[in-house]
Amino acid sequence: MATYPTTLMLLGSGELGKEIVIAAKRLGCKVIACDRYANAPAMQIADKAEVFDMTNSAELKKAILHHQPDLVIPEIEALAVEALAELESQGITIIPTARATAVTMNRDQIRNLAANTLGVQTARFAYASNAAELQNAAIPLGWPVIVKPVMSSSGKGQSLVKTPEGLPEAWNKAIKGSRGKSKQVIVEEFIDFDFEITLLTIRQKNGDTIFCKPIGHQQVQGDYQCSWQPAKIDLKQLKKAQEMARHITNNLGGRGLFGVEFFIRGEEVIFSELSPRPHDTGLVTIMSQNLNEFELHLRAILGIPIPEITTVQASASRVILATHNYSSVAYEGIEKALSEANTKVLIFGKPNAKPGRRMGVALAQGENIEEAQNKADKAAAAIQIKENNLSTN
Ligand SMILES: Nc1ncnc2c1ncn2[C@@H]1O[C@H](COP(=O)(O)OP(=O)(O)O)[C@@H](O)[C@H]1O
Ligand SMILES: [Mg+2]
Repeated sequence: MATYPTTLMLLGSGELGKEIVIAAKRLGCKVIACDRYANAPAMQIADKAEVFDMTNSAELKKAILHHQPDLVIPEIEALAVEALAELESQGITIIPTARATAVTMNRDQIRNLAANTLGVQTARFAYASNAAELQNAAIPLGWPVIVKPVMSSSGKGQSLVKTPEGLPEAWNKAIKGSRGKSKQVIVEEFIDFDFEITLLTIRQKNGDTIFCKPIGHQQVQGDYQCSWQPAKIDLKQLKKAQEMARHITNNLGGRGLFGVEFFIRGEEVIFSELSPRPHDTGLVTIMSQNLNEFELHLRAILGIPIPEITTVQASASRVILATHNYSSVAYEGIEKALSEANTKVLIFGKPNAKPGRRMGVALAQGENIEEAQNKADKAAAAIQIKENNLSTN
């Protein structure tokens, strides 16, 4: 039997981290929330906050060793993964494993593992480390292709390229959008999918791997705009996706919730990528499930039973994006957004805004997916983001 409080160290304090802290606090845990800037969403709820560069090995090790947490929970990709591996070898538990955080931080590593080592179907792909290599790598894939930095997230540096003439610009965009100093890009066959899903997959401490109902989502330039659950999918395809998700997450090991992304095209189920942690499209589970993805992550990590996951008939999410730069933010329209039954708005509490930054999300339930989507869209549209002139911070 575990004894509480358990001390958790959360690496990344964005909107997903904030929900992890809420779930952790409800279980009586103590949380130290870390990020590169102060007053990040999760820090507003955590017991303690640490502000430092989590991509710096020495700083990351120092912070973890100082707090001696029972568990280290990465919430973002960009971490000094070599420091996590070193600490894991000294007996510190990294969720799900240090190797999983390292493999999924780089698109090439997870893609090589899935496609080459595990034989899982993916889009055809190649790598390039300069503009000339990109030209050669793209040609055999056919047109269009998708170019992405090997290290990036939320669609940063991603381009859809329709002809060879578009490659130099895609190269420049990828290098500009690349995290850190990496100069490697992946070029992928464009999959003209019917729809895409996230399959939330839970590896438990004591128990089988279990799945949430599939989540459908839409992305614009590689960034999540809306999601819904359950996504309509053929049972045979769902079983196939579950089998693929189980295969990959078994290899990554550890415990916790994973967001496994697939493209569905005709009869094909094509693996795209995965997060070894709650997924942004899974925010909808706050509205749709008896246990949301953050609660499930914690239960899996802490060895708390998950007797049953129930899902309501239809739910949807729609992101609330900033359109301007504001050094301090205020919101209007929350009353209007929440005037419909079974609608929620999550304001993340980010201290400032810049165009395209995700500031919140609207969630709604409906009789069917279309109604849920309409309600979520309306609620999101009702929220206005303004400069907060009264703020002193
Ligand atoms: N090969 C592809 N074919 C078609 N669409 C793609 C392909 N790769 C990415 N996309 C689109 O871009 C989105 C983001 O790409 P993804 O690889 O998941 O990057 P990120 O790590 O930024 O989420 C996907 O959810 C999908 O909508
Ligand atoms: Mg993705």
